Amino acid sequence: MDRHNGAEGGWLERLVRLDTVISTQEEARRLAESGAPEGTAVMAEEQTGGRGRQGRRWHSPRGQGIWMSVVLRPRLTAAAAPQLTLLAGVAVCEALREVAGVEAGIKWPNDLLIGGRKVCGILLEAHFREGVPDYLIAGIGVDCLAVEEDFPEELRAVATSLRIERGGVPVDREELAAAMLSGLEERYRQYFAEGFAPIAARWEELSVTLGRRIALAGPKEQRTGVAAGLDENGGLRLVDDAGETFTVLSGEIEWMN
Ligand code: BTN
Repeated sequence: MDRHNGAEGGWLERLVRLDTVISTQEEARRLAESGAPEGTAVMAEEQTGGRGRQGRRWHSPRGQGIWMSVVLRPRLTAAAAPQLTLLAGVAVCEALREVAGVEAGIKWPNDLLIGGRKVCGILLEAHFREGVPDYLIAGIGVDCLAVEEDFPEELRAVATSLRIERGGVPVDREELAAAMLSGLEERYRQYFAEGFAPIAARWEELSVTLGRRIALAGPKEQRTGVAAGLDENGGLRLVDDAGETFTVLSGEIEWMN
């Protein structure tokens, strides 16, 4: 089976295009289970059951976005999965900036925002075999062509599209999807060649999280602190009011300023 250092050919060559699916996550999982090599990607015109993080629904209307899932087969411990989450955010953020010319930034861990509104969400799902990650599916949803009225009422204040941010000018979804996949492949290879440090440094440059006061709802209490940077595992380092540093590895954060 192909691994990160064994697959031939670029990831773009393994792109599978589908029309309507429930979720590209399931389609990619099916392919991974039947042995599809790393970098195999599934892209659909429409998802009827698109999934977001924390069990939320992901609005994925026909023809308006890039709804894509990529199979990854890294040789990694589960503890390194947060690093890949951040890597995906970096690669997609760079593609949005380059192809769409927008000032996208990353909200920890990997939401992409423009002017405070979300334009892209990333969902990394790990599948385990005998306690170790067998493969990961990186799901990426980018709102490309919607106008304000296309978003459900409750999303308008918090969501945007590339078209809205480009003053009504549509973006070429094919070109953007290709740049996203090539960027992901490039950053992924860099990760295995050079380690996490250069990815973390780029994430910090693209971040709209650092320096902000953050609230984090945990199982027992809500903690707050100012985001100071990433640690070597990809956790977010926060400094609380008492000057103590603590790290979060997963969850949702909220701005407090
Ligand atoms: C988030 O909650 O921010 C993550 C959203 C991820 C959405 C993408 S769209 C392609 C892939 N298929 C899904 O069902 N979800 C992901």
